Amino acid sequence: MSKTYNIAVVPGDGTGPEVVAEGLKVLDAASKKFGFNCNLTHFDFGGDRYLRTGEVLPDSATDELRKFDAIFLGAIGHPDVKPGILEKGILLRLRFELDQYINLRPVKLYPGVDCPLKGKGPEHIDFTVIRENTEGIYAGAGGFLKKGTPDEVATQESINTRKGVDRCLKYAFEYTMKKSREKKLTLCGKTNVLTFAFDLWQRAFNEMAKSYPGVKTDYAHVDAITMWFVKNPEWFDVIVTDNMFGDIITDLGAMIQGGMGIAAGGNINPEGVSMFEPIGGSAPKYKGQNIINPLAAICAAGMMLDHLGEEAAAKKIEASVMDITGTKIKSLAAGKMGFSTTEVGDMVASMVAV
Ligand code: IPM
Ligand code: MN
Repeated sequence: MSKTYNIAVVPGDGTGPEVVAEGLKVLDAASKKFGFNCNLTHFDFGGDRYLRTGEVLPDSATDELRKFDAIFLGAIGHPDVKPGILEKGILLRLRFELDQYINLRPVKLYPGVDCPLKGKGPEHIDFTVIRENTEGIYAGAGGFLKKGTPDEVATQESINTRKGVDRCLKYAFEYTMKKSREKKLTLCGKTNVLTFAFDLWQRAFNEMAKSYPGVKTDYAHVDAITMWFVKNPEWFDVIVTDNMFGDIITDLGAMIQGGMGIAAGGNINPEGVSMFEPIGGSAPKYKGQNIINPLAAICAAGMMLDHLGEEAAAKKIEASVMDITGTKIKSLAAGKMGFSTTEVGDMVASMVAV
């Protein structure tokens, strides 16, 4: 009997539902071709639901989502809702409560995609950022003193637990051993200034490296890494870093791989339920026009299948995306693809089906 995966689908806000629909189209084609089933359950979490009901996320949501094999997410963020409410109340809450402690973000220049960096091609830009996803500044430690007065003080502390750092590093070393091109892992930090947080990271990194003699290790400061992403992206294979630095450098990563139209990511709990998403956000200005690029969501669906163990299907999706970028699509930008959102989804689905 063929395998069945129970997938929770959270289309979310803005263009989220449109790109998720194309991701699901490709998932359906892949499931028929590779002989597995996806049992989909939709959830309406997002800005519209919040504006309608006043509830950001029902308390039962995480327990319900925990029962699925994976979560496929579109985007969270609504122009009529104050920034932070949905992002913290839905996205970060799910990452934290489902303990998705890895944020896995591949940066890969696909064939035919215009790279903003002169002289760089697909052979130069192919690395993965492993971002710690539950601690650091995102943990929410800190607060106000004398808020609203001239003596106001605001603090926001970075929380780095040895357990949290170790489990992230372990994932990174294992990933580098099993999945990377060159078996090279770079720790990205700021040991020259953040002498507590990144002292812990560096000690933990050096200690763990002893158990992985097959992995070449390196270190780079976060400011320098932003420079090298532009100058010498080919130096990088796998990068591991904390939550805040990972957030920042993966937006830069998304740009050097051609833009948000192609950047996908996974929020991974290796022992629990993981959530896959295009990382570009809800792009409300493009909503409902059938012009947004669905390739990032399609790549996220591919990452989800790889995570579920459907490696052949994941590879086929990636090869089809490469074919589209290399020979068909004009640009990755919304409205400039030469095709509509649904046409791009149709093309990938039909390539995956053969
Ligand atoms: C991301 C986003 C989120 C983050 C926001 C929306 C909370 O920027 O997934 O990178 O900061 O993690
Ligand atoms: Mn971000």
